[in-house]
Amino acid sequence: MKYSGFAYIYTIGCQMNVYDSGKLAAILSSAGFEKTDDIKKADVIVCNTCSIRHKAEEKAFSFLGRLAKLKKNKPDLISVMAGCVAQQEGKKAFERVPYLDIVLGTQAFSRFGQHIDAIKSGKQKLTDTAESSMIYEGMPDIPDIKDTPDIKDTKGVEESQISKFVTIMQGCENFCTYCVVPYVRGRERSRKARNIIEEITKIAESGIKEITLLGQNVNSYGENEGQISFPQLLKKINDIEGIQRIRFATSHPKDLSMELIGAIRDLDKVCNHLHLPVQSGSDHILKKMNRGYTRKTYLQRICDLKEQCPEIALSTDIIVGFPSETQADFDDTMNLMREIEFDSVFAFSYSDRSSAPAAKFSDQIDEKIKRERLNELLELQETLTHKKNKNLIGKTIPVLVEGKSTKKREGFDFSDSNLEQMFGRTPSNKIVHFPSEHAKIGDVVEIKIENAYPHSLWGHPCGV
Ligand code: 5AD
Ligand code: SF4
Repeated sequence: MKYSGFAYIYTIGCQMNVYDSGKLAAILSSAGFEKTDDIKKADVIVCNTCSIRHKAEEKAFSFLGRLAKLKKNKPDLISVMAGCVAQQEGKKAFERVPYLDIVLGTQAFSRFGQHIDAIKSGKQKLTDTAESSMIYEGMPDIPDIKDTPDIKDTKGVEESQISKFVTIMQGCENFCTYCVVPYVRGRERSRKARNIIEEITKIAESGIKEITLLGQNVNSYGENEGQISFPQLLKKINDIEGIQRIRFATSHPKDLSMELIGAIRDLDKVCNHLHLPVQSGSDHILKKMNRGYTRKTYLQRICDLKEQCPEIALSTDIIVGFPSETQADFDDTMNLMREIEFDSVFAFSYSDRSSAPAAKFSDQIDEKIKRERLNELLELQETLTHKKNKNLIGKTIPVLVEGKSTKKREGFDFSDSNLEQMFGRTPSNKIVHFPSEHAKIGDVVEIKIENAYPHSLWGHPCGV
């Protein structure tokens, strides 16, 4: 059915939620709704939720709480809770948010249009948390409308005029004991390679230069369906004209194959960067987390990687304060960080998720100790990131230009010249600021690095 009116989408959580919100926006757009940034104008409001940690879940409920007043002023307003919290809560969501109209689970997105029709024709309080073996089948392509993301979990990669996310698989069967994902995203399902290639070809034709392939465990791409492997998929994407950079997340250390390491080494568009969540440096904690590897095997993988790809940039996820984590366990994590020297670390304080087994583990860690460990760890990483960045001084690196930059640093003030200050990213995902007369968004410019800070690099185009 076709309607008229405005739609507002609020996105919390990871890169996959950004992609999913794009799909929901496409459905709303084909149903006749126009995108708005003004929540008061909206006729449909969607909150695409995340339940990975307690804070993200609270953020969703706090946003939805604000809708009570809007709904009172506009009774026809359709309010939707979508994504991981919706999947987890199901009908229970109506107890906390009684004026919700639709609870749309993670596997129900392709049925969103039908549910809008049902609410429009008088149905009330609709819940769809049914499982589905297909993802994104039959959903329209992502239109060129931006949502209103409040994203903190994007691992430093953001969508932009030249960079887009593409989900290739969803779900996880690893059952790490702290993690809610297997319960809210379901079993591993991969999209057909043909559909992924078609979507990326279209994206490339629209001028996008960089794509980030998403999945909770991209290394398992295609396994349940007997499709081509993830490295084979990378090879096909590497052949798509117009795409210049390919990134992907997330890889599980236990499944990192030599075939994938070979693909990173050999495929020219695949960025020399790997996000490989270690979570802890202590064998005792890794076992309790059910991670399926030890400190030694993780280090061995890093060694294999560095042997094949000596310049590779590494990032990771770490949880501090997992139940029963002692000072010695924490020291193991800090020492692992010193040994590997990751380029960046995404660190989290452990947060109980009621559907995940670790919530029932004894020896929960005091919040104050968690906070102290998190701060100590972040401080160490700041020093290590700065050191890694300083190692790049004097090197010339290809930078994909993302836009104009307003950041100021000593020796980089061009207000009196005809030069413009631009910024972009290295293949290893570091931000570089530089002056240029001609560089345009989407160009790749060779920059000689002259200054390094913990969060940015500064330099000049080669030959200038
Ligand atoms: N508490 C804290 N951090 C968590 N993560 C996943 N579950 C939890 C939890 N219960 C972190 C892990 C994961 C990242 C996406 O979020 O580090 O890799
Ligand atoms: Fe969660 Fe572990 Fe699966 Fe990652 S691998 S999504 S941490 S269960």
